[in-house]
Amino acid sequence: MRKKIIAANWKMNMTNGEAEAFFEKFLQELGEDRKVEVVIVPPFTALAKAGELLRDVQNVNLGAQNMHWEKSGAFTGEISASLLRELYVHYVVLGHSERRTLFGETDAIVNRKVHAAHANSLTPIVCIGETLAERDAGKVEEVLATQVKGSLDGLTAEQLEETVIAYEPVWAIGTGRTATPEQAQEAHAFIRGRLAAGWNAEVAAKVRIQYGGSVKPSNAGELMAQPDIDGALVGGASLDARGFAEIIQATRALLE
Ligand code: PGA
Repeated sequence: MRKKIIAANWKMNMTNGEAEAFFEKFLQELGEDRKVEVVIVPPFTALAKAGELLRDVQNVNLGAQNMHWEKSGAFTGEISASLLRELYVHYVVLGHSERRTLFGETDAIVNRKVHAAHANSLTPIVCIGETLAERDAGKVEEVLATQVKGSLDGLTAEQLEETVIAYEPVWAIGTGRTATPEQAQEAHAFIRGRLAAGWNAEVAAKVRIQYGGSVKPSNAGELMAQPDIDGALVGGASLDARGFAEIIQATRALLE
């Protein structure tokens, strides 16, 4: 019932030319099957080009990597929700661990952005996840509970339903070290439980929760087979058109 959603987080990579070459290959590999929703999250500079190339492609949507919570004004270097909407952006990744650790984003900041996204009909992909030190200290649940509450505070059940959560253990991002399917499932089930406690069980059952952290073609199938894993946020492996298509194909194969 929850449609799986696989997103490509290109981070600070991909020129317009590289994006064009990616799509040429990727769309061919992807074929016509649309059982899995795909989101491409390019850097801001490639959004317009990607939007143009995806305009007639069903079920491959565009996302942005970040945005500011204000509508407009004197915020040099920032991008607003309405500027993203103009480029046919549907999703926005918020609170990625790189934003949190390198750029000082707190749950309170993420929360303002999540509300701004909803106010502008953008679907936020809200990233949460513990560090290795927090996992080793037995604090996974405490950290996730705090991030869920802080980042999603004040959302209505309707808005929560239109929110995607990405569980990305920080120790698995870009390290080649993936959470085991059991570790990931445990965290996802816990997050869903927090949504049920904070809102209600009905909406919690509808929210899509992606896993992120060193997802690649060889491990995607077993991760996506877990009952509470509804997709993936893929970094490094999403830069390769064939590899990214293989992750989607591995996910599709589970639905057949
Ligand atoms: P990775 O990144 O797939 O390269 O680990 C995931 C992410 O940061 O979203």
